[in-house]
Amino acid sequence: MQTYEQVDNYMQALDLKYYKNTNDFLANLMMKTDKGYVKELADTLNSRAKGQNSNNEYFYKLKNRTLDGSLCISAAFDSGLFRHLGNMIIDSAEYFHGTVLDVGCDCGLVTCFIAQQYPECRVVGVDKNELAVNNAKALAERLGLSNVEFVTADIYDFVLDEKASVATSFRGLLDIAQKQTSGVSVIGERSERENAYQQAFSPLATAIANNLTDDGAVISVERYTALYGWLGWMQALAEVGVSPVMDKCARMVAQDISTKKDYSVTFAQKSSKSTPLEAYNYVMEQNFKSGAGVTGADAEFSLYFDSTEIEFTDVKKGEKLIHQFAKAESKGGKFMFYEADLDDRKLKYCNEKKSQKAQEDFDRKLAMYNNSEFEIKKYTINS
Ligand SMILES: C[S@@+](CC[C@H](N)C(=O)[O-])C[C@H]1O[C@@H](n2cnc3c(N)ncnc32)[C@H](O)[C@@H]1O
Repeated sequence: MQTYEQVDNYMQALDLKYYKNTNDFLANLMMKTDKGYVKELADTLNSRAKGQNSNNEYFYKLKNRTLDGSLCISAAFDSGLFRHLGNMIIDSAEYFHGTVLDVGCDCGLVTCFIAQQYPECRVVGVDKNELAVNNAKALAERLGLSNVEFVTADIYDFVLDEKASVATSFRGLLDIAQKQTSGVSVIGERSERENAYQQAFSPLATAIANNLTDDGAVISVERYTALYGWLGWMQALAEVGVSPVMDKCARMVAQDISTKKDYSVTFAQKSSKSTPLEAYNYVMEQNFKSGAGVTGADAEFSLYFDSTEIEFTDVKKGEKLIHQFAKAESKGGKFMFYEADLDDRKLKYCNEKKSQKAQEDFDRKLAMYNNSEFEIKKYTINS
């Protein structure tokens, strides 16, 4: 991708690279820290990858033991993303004036980039982790920035001394609302699920909106959320009067050291009039092609966008929804078969002849749940 030279120059000034693989990253981290630290971090990352240790607080404290170590880890996990963010920050000059509030700033990598690009702005980074804030202050000093401040605070109680024209949050939403979103299902009927995310994000949206000027804006970039939670986040913002700026919202695909991730980009502003669903449909429609089988976030989008009525069959184990099947007829008269579990989503289109086989496939999978351990719920919605 084309990266503005300011973004590459910033990375170089901090001796950071766009790490291509784990070994390259660990070798660099070793040069910036020490063997004991690298081992502790590698063990923690391994157990996080296996889902054994999702204690974010512990991870961010470990990450921020030193500034250079923390920057190196940010660069490893976000360097691909950082390119996109850097470009986006440069391309969105109209939002960066007055005071900028960066929520969940961690060691200040992106916050300081904003301050460097927009010297007329006063940039305030907030994070509840004191070690991260101390590192962010040291980074600002290293870069010679005098227009950025960092505050240790919980964003839920934070009141800025002057209202911000824009609040940003990069990869922060799901971390900051981890407690509130922890019981919310990642699959399930879209409006029901996204209303639950709206509720979970509502305190964060309120806390941010309270710190904005009368026409203040929010820019956020969050991982995975085109799959779940993005609509809910935009709904939570709209509920407090900060509605999406439809044609600025987008999806970003960025590579980190091990995987390609799909991020959702929200631009919202108090003066905007678009609804969350309009913004979501506007973004997702750009990948949509009726009749094409799709996976991931595009599968659920196509199911709703290309039908008028959907028949769902949900499989629950206790309170937890574990598998969802759905059938619908597309606007072009094809049969749509959709399936989601906790790891995957897919949608396929069939003609009448092939639909019989797809139906048998559904019935066979559903029959595996046919015992007292599972609850099967069938219902129809208008899409
Ligand atoms: C993924 S990191 C953010 C990365 C950073 N924005 C960047 O672009 O490099 C998420 C951050 O949110 C912070 N955080 C979590 N809950 C918070 C809260 N209630 N208030 C303020 N910060 C919080 C964490 O300490 C962590 O530093």
